[in-house]
Amino acid sequence: MLPRLIVGNWKMHKTVQEACELVQAVLAVLKLPQHVEAAVAPPFTALHAVGEVIAGSPLRLAAQNVCWETEGAFTGEISPHMLHALGCQYVIIGHSERRRLFGETDAMINKKVKAALQSALSPILCVGETFEEREAGDTEQIVQRQTVQGLEGISPEDLQRVTIAYEPVWAIGTGLAATTTQAEAVHQMIHETLRHRWGESGAHVRILYGGSVTPANAPELFQSAHINGALVGKACLDPDAFAMIIRTA
Ligand code: PGA
Repeated sequence: MLPRLIVGNWKMHKTVQEACELVQAVLAVLKLPQHVEAAVAPPFTALHAVGEVIAGSPLRLAAQNVCWETEGAFTGEISPHMLHALGCQYVIIGHSERRRLFGETDAMINKKVKAALQSALSPILCVGETFEEREAGDTEQIVQRQTVQGLEGISPEDLQRVTIAYEPVWAIGTGLAATTTQAEAVHQMIHETLRHRWGESGAHVRILYGGSVTPANAPELFQSAHINGALVGKACLDPDAFAMIIRTA
């Protein structure tokens, strides 16, 4: 069983200096239990500086997005190779904000996942349904499609370096987290889908829950053996709250 993984997604917050202050504050209160991994995902501009602050600590570095190309004429893009050279271990791919606001499709996301794996990064593939899709009873179909198409062509060996984050869109930034029962049902369904497609290695893929995770709801969420960690947005900008969620894991 892989350790639980807690990732703080800082989104578009913090200048370089503010980022260093935040991560120092996290380190000051961080108690990383055994069998728990933790990572922070600052914006691209702060990756280098944050990487220097956390060097030698148990905190890992993650990026929030990546290009599928290695180098070349791709103005404004950052390659997996560049992230790896900065010390990133993880990269979040296909976050619902990228899908919804920046037009990322399952095909683009699949190229990013493959490129990340080729550069020895561990992709965190985000999947999740909107409120309307859940209301229409389409959760399973949507999440299955995002999972299977996002991971199309990945070998069972490479799958072992993939993490999935189930993030219902209606729970992100709304304060309305999924219940443990709701999350657990989808996590189980994702594990079954992976096992069906990739065999036993599918059963060992970590599935994080994301969407309004707080120190208050983390204890209940982590009671489920199917919830292998969390992708934390708002609460990770508060060092005490982030450290508390990690301790709860
Ligand atoms: P939230 O964001 O914790 O603020 O809901 C989670 C995410 O978008 O990853």
